[in-house]
Amino acid sequence: MNKPQIIENTISFVKETLKDAEGGHDWFHIERVYKNALLISKDENVDEFIVSLGALLHDIADAKFYDGDETVGPRIARKFLENQQVEASVIIHIENIIKYISFKSSLSLGDKFSSPELDVIQDADRLDAIGAIGIARCFNYGGFKNRTLYNPEIAPNVNMTKEEYKKSDAPTINHFYEKLLLLKDKMNTSTAKKIAEERHLFMETFLQQFYAEWNGEK
Ligand code: NI
Repeated sequence: MNKPQIIENTISFVKETLKDAEGGHDWFHIERVYKNALLISKDENVDEFIVSLGALLHDIADAKFYDGDETVGPRIARKFLENQQVEASVIIHIENIIKYISFKSSLSLGDKFSSPELDVIQDADRLDAIGAIGIARCFNYGGFKNRTLYNPEIAPNVNMTKEEYKKSDAPTINHFYEKLLLLKDKMNTSTAKKIAEERHLFMETFLQQFYAEWNGEK
């Protein structure tokens, strides 16, 4: 099978698999990450086939929705790619990308894997967690978990362990300080750094307005 055909098949597979996914991790999230990853790739020396497959499959089974089991995603991806007769070395690379992409894995820096393709997809995924879309996804997920919007008495905890992060039921606004506002300094590529600066400013403006309205000042 040729590469464009495999990518087409992957798009169909991901759309079908994620048809009931939560709004922040649905097909449209994947599509945005895929497009951002291709945009970032233009300035990087990467294999676009691997970037495409990795971006399309990176949330095929989000561990948050499988009781924290982080092995499900790589397993589903492997099975699918084997059916597409993708070569073994590419499959291993994609499995590693899925394993290492999440914020949670990078909190527990146990094992080491890196590649330029992972850097690009991680940046694209992180870009989708900030800015206007990031704000929308953050509150959508908070609602899904029945979290409060904000509680001035519960301070953000920026030094969470991997376990604490998974179990956290803190207000959604805290997530800005625990994750979203930290992302701009974690971008790997210069293209993503530039985009992240603008999205970061937008979130800061949003927070100022949020507190002003909360406090009855506007
Ligand atoms: Ni994602």
